Amino acid sequence: MKHIVILISGRGSNMEAIVQACASEGWPARIAAVISNRPDAGGLAFAQAHGIPTAVVDHRSFGKGDTARAAFDAELQRVIDGFAPDLVVLAGFMRILTPAFTGHYAGRMLNIHPSLLPAFTGLHTHQRAIEAGCRVAGATVHFVTAELDHGPIVAQAVVPVLDGDDESALAARVLAREHRMYPSAVRWFVEGQLVIDGAQVRHREGASQMFS
Ligand code: GRF
Repeated sequence: MKHIVILISGRGSNMEAIVQACASEGWPARIAAVISNRPDAGGLAFAQAHGIPTAVVDHRSFGKGDTARAAFDAELQRVIDGFAPDLVVLAGFMRILTPAFTGHYAGRMLNIHPSLLPAFTGLHTHQRAIEAGCRVAGATVHFVTAELDHGPIVAQAVVPVLDGDDESALAARVLAREHRMYPSAVRWFVEGQLVIDGAQVRHREGASQMFS
């Protein structure tokens, strides 16, 4: 039985999708904890209602600057490791992480980013894709490395950008795919199906890593 710790900062809809898939599909895993850097993260209530332990490590109580960032990451790591995770899942966790933190979880921390990486790292991805005239957009699940929104790609989901789309319309189309792709990717990890080969990740049994 693998232990999964999920980190959120907000509404946690990807976390919900993972919790529900884990239960309904009978994964060889349990959600050991949901942890937020924001006490008001909407997703905490969902986790509590499902009997999942929750914790908050509030980044604001650490102040600003490099020393504060390192201290926050160290405390977050201590809290996470208290749940002995096999996998850490970033699901809308809005923090830039230190190399010490990402190194500690190398090969066992996943993130979902709402763009077709390596395009549009960072924020406001949907608006930037629309402004750039992209005809497709999407989301990427990747292993986390020290570089923001980089790391070996586990899966990508592609959606069309339609005439007249605004940021929220495109975000909603992408999010619906995220809710199918992220649980699949996490399941692959806990079932031991993912092989990291340099910058690339392949599925042992050849499942399609492209969602549409
Ligand atoms: C998602 O679009 C995810 O790709 C991005 O932040 C959003 C989080 O949404 N990293 P939610 O909190 O999972 O609902």
